[in-house]
Amino acid sequence: MDPFLRKHLSRSVQSHTPYTPGEQPSFGQKVIKLNTNENPYPPSPSVKEKVVEGIQSLNLYPNPQASDLRKSISILNRVSEDQVIVGNGSDDILNLCVRCFGDEHHSIGILDPSYSLYEVLTSIQGANLIRIPFQTEDFKIPFQLIEKSEANLFFITSPHAPSGRGYSLIELTDILNRFQGIMVIDEAYVDFSSQSAVPLLRDFQKLIITRTFSKSYSLAGLRVGYALSSPDIIEILDQAREVYNVDKLAQIGAQAAIEDQAYFIKTRNDIIASRDQLSSITEGWGWRTIPSSTNFIFTQPVDKYGKKGKVVAQNLFDYLERSGILVRYFERSPLTDSYVRISIGKPEEMTMLVKKIKEWRLHEKQK
Ligand SMILES: Cc1ncc(COP(=O)(O)O)c(C=O)c1O
Repeated sequence: MDPFLRKHLSRSVQSHTPYTPGEQPSFGQKVIKLNTNENPYPPSPSVKEKVVEGIQSLNLYPNPQASDLRKSISILNRVSEDQVIVGNGSDDILNLCVRCFGDEHHSIGILDPSYSLYEVLTSIQGANLIRIPFQTEDFKIPFQLIEKSEANLFFITSPHAPSGRGYSLIELTDILNRFQGIMVIDEAYVDFSSQSAVPLLRDFQKLIITRTFSKSYSLAGLRVGYALSSPDIIEILDQAREVYNVDKLAQIGAQAAIEDQAYFIKTRNDIIASRDQLSSITEGWGWRTIPSSTNFIFTQPVDKYGKKGKVVAQNLFDYLERSGILVRYFERSPLTDSYVRISIGKPEEMTMLVKKIKEWRLHEKQK
């Protein structure tokens, strides 16, 4: 780096490693994209209608509090309006959590592996990171280690990513009782599961639940997420956000998506059905597949010689990539490096995926 810039750069940015997003192919490139847990279906038709209408008023600033959207979100989740904050994707909200509760004297705790953005936000904030590794292959919450950690704020992803595993209300209550700091439960995938932590908001003032419109509402490109918490925490997050953090079209689009619950339920149920079907196929092949509460599966490929492991998973990943199918492979952790993560696509995409995996199992020469 240029010595002049290095001299002037803040210490936290100097030592920072940026987030690596999953590959986004260029527009028009023909691939089956099962690598970033997007929804394979377009948003509700009423989103398009309302967003197009909204273009007419783009000369005006958006409502800074996203008031109408906050109200709809509060009704959807049966909480009061002062328990909601909206952000530019849930990443924006996760960032606000770190900004408000992390610094050199206030550590941030994460489970390893989990959503890697937590770590990136912590490093750019210059806060100390406490990394707690999962102790078991089934990604059970390591209750005692979290309880003993000195983290000021702790992130739990529930359902968990990248494993897809869900946690019960009993487990979440237990960890909230044991951990003394602020707890964020990241529910990015919760609409594909049967348990949400929302009922716990009544008992735990320190709980922040983050949600996104990117997955179950098919709006990853619009960037809308939100948090539910106690009014006191929402007030803290609110004063730290950008003034116009949610643009006008995003507010209009997300609201229209909430209003079309019939479309939401239909597409969500279709994804759950495809997910369960794919899980039974991989289990039928004898691949360890973590029971999924999300819109993806996490599965451990076995090759035609009965071998599994890092090389086999990488080999399948490469084979699918050459065949025009993008999935995700996480080589960094021993708990993930023999698995691939596959987002659920449309039925025809799943058919093609299964066909290509069968080809791989039959023909691919292993290294
Ligand atoms: C666990 C988790 N949290 C948050 C997000 C980010 O969601 P958003 O698109 O709302 O920023 C993702 C995206 O993949 C995720 O996997």
